[in-house]
Amino acid sequence: MPGLRPLDAPLDLTLEAATDTASTGRRELFASKRVAPSILSSDFSRLGAQVEEVMAAGARIIHVDVMDGHFVPPITIGPLVAGSIADLVHDAGGAIDVHLMIENPDRHIEEFAKAGADNITFHAEATPHINRTLNAIRELGCLAGLAINPGTPVSAVSESVNDADVFLCMTVNPGWGGQSFIADSPDKVGRLSEMVGAGSIEVDGGIDTAGGVAAAGASLFVAGSAVFGADDPAAAYSAIAEAAGAA
Ligand code: DX5
Ligand code: ZN
Repeated sequence: MPGLRPLDAPLDLTLEAATDTASTGRRELFASKRVAPSILSSDFSRLGAQVEEVMAAGARIIHVDVMDGHFVPPITIGPLVAGSIADLVHDAGGAIDVHLMIENPDRHIEEFAKAGADNITFHAEATPHINRTLNAIRELGCLAGLAINPGTPVSAVSESVNDADVFLCMTVNPGWGGQSFIADSPDKVGRLSEMVGAGSIEVDGGIDTAGGVAAAGASLFVAGSAVFGADDPAAAYSAIAEAAGAA
């Protein structure tokens, strides 16, 4: 059960107003056209500095790839790392976009919410209880995202259109950065767009220019190696954002 306020408890208007403002701003940010650098390809020995570099170039959504060695083969990072950059991202007006490539996502969402996640996305393939997990994420005060693998049809999200804030269409098979964009992805994004509408589709994997998927209806473009694999991540961010017509 979410923490319900007893009816006779004093109403903390200040806190509620602040939370409303934060959640409106966050919703607008995730609905706008944006490139989201993925820290998976960053230099972890200087993670904070790398995040600051791309934010100085205009990035406002920082993508955090969480892999558990089960849903996908590699193990990457968890809430401790997300939490380590949360303050600097929030202080610069940005948001943390957590992408869970893990089994049993509901066991871990609270830790990520506490670590400062603004959006938490999990995979439709990872649980039989999609809408329960989406609702649980929203009850934790975060936006809720639902991801599908390249082999999963868009119909997998058809009964969750009103329960999710973000729909993530993988444009590579998840697990590693630096893979090639799957050429059929724009068609799939187009089919997803007909189902969920504009302003809620995120694409992830092999994005260096976003032309095809942007035209098909995606508005949030995750880029890992194209940003942090470049000699100058800030310049690479700016070039991709400009090509995508993003802020
Ligand atoms: C892949 C991850 C991606 C990854 C993208 O499974 O979900 O977010 O960081 O990296 P690039 O942009 O290099 O394909
Ligand atoms: Zn990702």
